[in-house]
Amino acid sequence: MSQVIILFVSLLLISTTTLLDSSSNASSKVIIKANETILSENRTFELGFFNINGEPRWYLGIWYASIPTPTYIWVANRQTPAKNLSAAAAVITAEGKLAVVASGREILWRTENAAAAGEARLLEEGNLVLLGGDGEVVWRSFDFPADTWLPGMNLSGSQSLTCWRSSTDPAPGKYFLRLKPPEYGEIELVFNGSQPYWSTGKWTGDAFSGVPEMTVPYIYRFHFSNPFTPAAVFGYTELAAEGGGRPPPTRFQVDFSGQLRQYTWSPQAENWNMFWSRPENQCKVYGLCGNLGFCNTKMLSACKCLANFEPIDGGEWGAGDFSGGCRHRGGGVCGSNDGFEEIGAVSFDGSITESFSGD
Ligand SMILES: *[C@@H]1O[C@H](CO)[C@@H](O)[C@H](O)[C@H]1NC(C)=O
Ligand SMILES: *[C@@H]1O[C@H](CO)[C@@H](O)[C@H](O)[C@H]1NC(C)=O
Ligand SMILES: *[C@@H]1O[C@H](CO)[C@@H](O)[C@H](O)[C@H]1NC(C)=O
Ligand SMILES: *[C@@H]1O[C@H](CO)[C@@H](O)[C@H](O)[C@H]1NC(C)=O
Ligand SMILES: *[C@@H]1O[C@H](CO)[C@@H](O)[C@H](O)[C@H]1NC(C)=O
Ligand SMILES: *[C@@H]1O[C@H](CO)[C@@H](O)[C@H](O)[C@H]1NC(C)=O
Repeated sequence: MSQVIILFVSLLLISTTTLLDSSSNASSKVIIKANETILSENRTFELGFFNINGEPRWYLGIWYASIPTPTYIWVANRQTPAKNLSAAAAVITAEGKLAVVASGREILWRTENAAAAGEARLLEEGNLVLLGGDGEVVWRSFDFPADTWLPGMNLSGSQSLTCWRSSTDPAPGKYFLRLKPPEYGEIELVFNGSQPYWSTGKWTGDAFSGVPEMTVPYIYRFHFSNPFTPAAVFGYTELAAEGGGRPPPTRFQVDFSGQLRQYTWSPQAENWNMFWSRPENQCKVYGLCGNLGFCNTKMLSACKCLANFEPIDGGEWGAGDFSGGCRHRGGGVCGSNDGFEEIGAVSFDGSITESFSGD
């Protein structure tokens, strides 16, 4: 009898070791390898590696499984993509952290949970949770938002949203949304860590003073606990659809263009319906067009360089990241064809104003 048990145990060991390939150490547990994915219970969300435009840059992320348009609501290794999908994996390390590993066992990204995790689970609401030995939650992706704010997710003193750098680069960009310190009684959009350019206005008890539409009965229920204290937590949930059915997918997102946008999925049109955005005028986004760029929402692309100027980085400019700004085509030197050009009425954000007269 005891021999049978020993045989069984060694078989088990063999099969466990073969599950672990060279992309991770024998002591870590593979959650996802290469093109494998994990679905939430009712197939609403999916976790796996994705890339954009076929580029060899792979990110561990969460997207809607039920929607044909790829929409990434969370990204783990935003700044450290894997180059080779076949060798990439998400593992729980021997220390109980969730890690993204590349070929050669190189760790690209990892969680910093204090208590060790043994298991990862993707919940129906889009939250990736790590569970400890007793099944307790030791880490949640909802506590580390990327650019998207889903029903059930909270904003707090330590939880804010950071936009993507461009439509093709999930690395953190320059715009973020946060509860405004030190009062924590309103939500603001901030450029580059220090320059606020839009705010909800202060909380009045059932809405923010600058967002009266929050009091209109809709599919959301907002909650704000401990407003005006460092323990403030603001979030929202989605009400069940009429008849108790599942409500349409909905999300807020800090777009790479610096706007906070709100979308619901339209199954009829098969696309995201953006029905609210702030600041409403995209040109009110601080620093949108960079140095020597100017903004006009009536143009196909919001930003343009002044005449005889060109984008410093044409690739980024094309992907919608205008922040690099423009430079003179002649490389900074004025030529004999240069002069003053009238560009109409514009307003400067935060620039130095100089007046001079001439004829
Ligand atoms: C995943 O990769 C394997 C091996 O390269 C391939 O056979 C399979 O078709 C891929 N699956 C998907 C869903 O792309
Ligand atoms: C999944 O769907 C079933 C059937 O509609 C439902 O009973 C169950 O509560 C759902 N699970 C989750 C986690 O939402
Ligand atoms: C990618 O990883 C696979 C599996 O580890 C390996 O066989 C392949 O040579 C790698 N490709 C490149 C381009 O490094
Ligand atoms: C694998 O082991 C090496 C050496 O012990 C260590 O540096 C590395 O962090 C480990 N990788 C993982 C995924 O645990
Ligand atoms: C969000 O905040 C509410 C109210 O404070 C709390 O009940 C809920 O657990 C929080 N959710 C997350 C994911 O932190
Ligand atoms: C953003 O902030 C950094 C560090 O505070 C500063 O060095 C940089 O010049 C700022 N960029 C812009 C475009 O304001």
